[in-house]
Amino acid sequence: MGEPGFPSVWPIIETARLRLRPPSLDDAQGVQRFCNDPEVSRNAETIPLPYTVEHATEWIGLVLEEFEKGVGVGMLIEERASGEVIGDSCLKYDATHGRAEVGFVLGRDYRGNGYATEAARAMIGLAFGTLGVRKVMAVAFADNLASRRVLERCGMTLEASLRGHSMREGEPADDVMYGLLRREYDGGIRQ
Ligand SMILES: CC(C)(COP(=O)(O)OP(=O)(O)OC[C@H]1O[C@@H](n2cnc3c(N)ncnc32)[C@H](O)[C@@H]1OP(=O)(O)O)[C@@H](O)C(=O)NCCC(=O)NCCS
Repeated sequence: MGEPGFPSVWPIIETARLRLRPPSLDDAQGVQRFCNDPEVSRNAETIPLPYTVEHATEWIGLVLEEFEKGVGVGMLIEERASGEVIGDSCLKYDATHGRAEVGFVLGRDYRGNGYATEAARAMIGLAFGTLGVRKVMAVAFADNLASRRVLERCGMTLEASLRGHSMREGEPADDVMYGLLRREYDGGIRQ
């Protein structure tokens, strides 16, 4: 491996059950399928409902652009056994602060199998390994217990409760912020 930094070639990561790979415009239908879900739009600020193939195409374009600019690595999650696109996991990269923010969405039919945790761990590994960040963080709505559990299972620590921090469906909502420092990751959280 060369020096840590934003990769010039898009990584593909294989875990025990998943393949994380870059999206292409051909994936718009698959992305639409797992995003067009009230549970997803309720918990992910940027995902509207209904979520159309046009929204998916726009999102894929944005992900490709962010990679070109060196500010984001957005991956689709494929289930290796079926080859189905079942979700996504993205890193936003902040070179100035040596920091990355991780996020994830998993299709309704595939939840509860530990897939989001498996994907998030792989993305955290990418952030500390290839990108060489000092810190990985994540933000979730405070009542999003499944997401919080994923972050905790990845070894992240609750750092802040942000009261009335975001607007959600027209109402103020509380957020929580989680963080993982390189020394914690190097000290044994790495899987
Ligand atoms: C959050 C999300 C990605 C989790 O996906 P997943 O593949 O089911 O996650 P995992 O199976 O890896 O882990 C989920 C954990 O949350 C727990 N969990 C699920 N629902 C829960 C609930 N309502 N209350 C408490 N814990 C819950 C599960 O038991 C599991 O923990 P465990 O393994 O210790 O038992 C998925 O629910 C999703 O896509 N939600 C909508 C979009 C979203 O919220 N994205 C995150 C935005 S910050």
